Amino acid sequence: MFSANAPFSVLLTILLAQHVILVQSVQYGLIKEYSGSTFFDEWDYFDAPDAPTSGDVIFVSEAVGKSSMLTYVDPQSNRAIMRVDNTSVVPFNEKRNAVRITTKESYAVGSVWIADMYHVPFGCSVWPSWWSFSTSTVWPTGGEIDVFEGINLSPTSQMGLHTNPGCSQVAPKQTSTLINSTDCAGAENQGCITTNSDTTSYGPAFAAAGGGVFVTEYAESGISNWFFSRPNVPSGLLTSTTVDTSQLGMPMGNWPAGGCDVNQFFLPQSLVFTITLCGVFAGNPQFFNQTCQGVCYLDYVVGNGSSYGNAYFEVGSVRVFNTNSTGQISSSASGSSSGSSPSSTSSKSNATFANTVPRIGRSFILALVLALAEFLI
Ligand SMILES: *[C@@H]1O[C@H](CO)[C@@H](O)[C@H](O)[C@H]1NC(C)=O
Ligand SMILES: *[C@@H]1O[C@H](CO)[C@@H](O)[C@H](O)[C@H]1NC(C)=O
Ligand SMILES: *[C@@H]1O[C@H](CO)[C@@H](O)[C@H](O)[C@H]1NC(C)=O
Ligand SMILES: *[C@@H]1O[C@H](CO)[C@@H](O)[C@H](O)[C@H]1NC(C)=O
Ligand SMILES: *[C@@H]1O[C@H](CO)[C@@H](O)[C@H](O)[C@H]1NC(C)=O
Ligand SMILES: *[C@@H]1O[C@H](CO)[C@@H](O)[C@H](O)[C@H]1NC(C)=O
Repeated sequence: MFSANAPFSVLLTILLAQHVILVQSVQYGLIKEYSGSTFFDEWDYFDAPDAPTSGDVIFVSEAVGKSSMLTYVDPQSNRAIMRVDNTSVVPFNEKRNAVRITTKESYAVGSVWIADMYHVPFGCSVWPSWWSFSTSTVWPTGGEIDVFEGINLSPTSQMGLHTNPGCSQVAPKQTSTLINSTDCAGAENQGCITTNSDTTSYGPAFAAAGGGVFVTEYAESGISNWFFSRPNVPSGLLTSTTVDTSQLGMPMGNWPAGGCDVNQFFLPQSLVFTITLCGVFAGNPQFFNQTCQGVCYLDYVVGNGSSYGNAYFEVGSVRVFNTNSTGQISSSASGSSSGSSPSSTSSKSNATFANTVPRIGRSFILALVLALAEFLI
């Protein structure tokens, strides 16, 4: 199902045989990989107060994050860990150390980012997210894309957009039917939110399945998020230096440009991992009481932190692709954050289709073949 694995002729045969209506294929090539021992090299540690979400945390600086092992690369698994302090005793009226990091680079419309995770933070009072926004203006100008957001012991996670007024989710082509809201501004910038209907998209079930992969497409035609639990990750998705989102199936969440002009409401996005505690979402009694007992701050943040043993992200890689790249990048072009040379992690055969047929030529051939198919059938 992942195009990079299918020889071109086989693909054409399948297209003809099934008489499918072809979704416009857009090829993205790898431009950046955050992984391995250098995972944390190109992120800024946000160590200001958690103002917008009012979490009961102190976001640590890079120095504190590293010295207190709240961010590190596990030498055994080679995966990046980001976690909440679970050893300090926090007195009443004080907050607990946690992590928020942002990529130094921002990614323009025409980009895809793929996050491979093995564990996401969960537990009462915990509110993790994997998201993006524009660092070059004042939020929500420039837009925010939420890929993964979970709270407390909820069974699933959610995704959505936050923008200035004028952007809404209209006629999405998505698998989730759990649409919470469609106005991407909304009262108090609630955003246009879709619940991830996969019950392995958060919590203990996410970890038990071996984690999963979140794919985000930020395109002029719209914004989409896919979630693949580990057993369903398309073959080649984590190794190929190209990705064709038309081969990933229908996304879990989709915000087409018809209801939201992507160029008007979004600016280049910086990618963010956050773990906060309580705050306006996880700590709101209306939500907190759904899966947890007691009072968010008093019964969890305050005290010895023994309930935060699962409040950590474990990330294999974050890889970013864009339409300008063929995926055949030199290791210098990939930046120093790349632990291993991306081109060396993908076999030639896996990338043959994407790398040998030029984009315009390929679309033209497909159009021709489809026209022929229409004529013949
Ligand atoms: C592709 O390159 C053009 C020209 O440099 C640039 O304006 C555009 O933002 C790039 N697209 C992406 C997705 O980086
Ligand atoms: C969103 O909708 C789902 C399904 O109806 C519901 O379970 C969930 O609690 C809602 N989320 C929020 C934040 O209200
Ligand atoms: C939620 O929990 C708080 C704190 O324990 C309590 O005061 C409140 O009454 C609860 N609300 C509901 C709807 O159960
Ligand atoms: C931490 O605090 C909890 C509740 O306040 C208590 O049950 C637990 O025994 C404490 N753990 C340690 C290691 O002190
Ligand atoms: C803190 O959490 C880690 C996992 O992140 C766990 O291995 C460790 O046992 C926990 N420590 C305490 C004191 O609960
Ligand atoms: C190539 O694709 C095969 C089959 O999907 C996969 O098992 C293998 O890991 C891939 N190899 C690389 C280097 O991408």
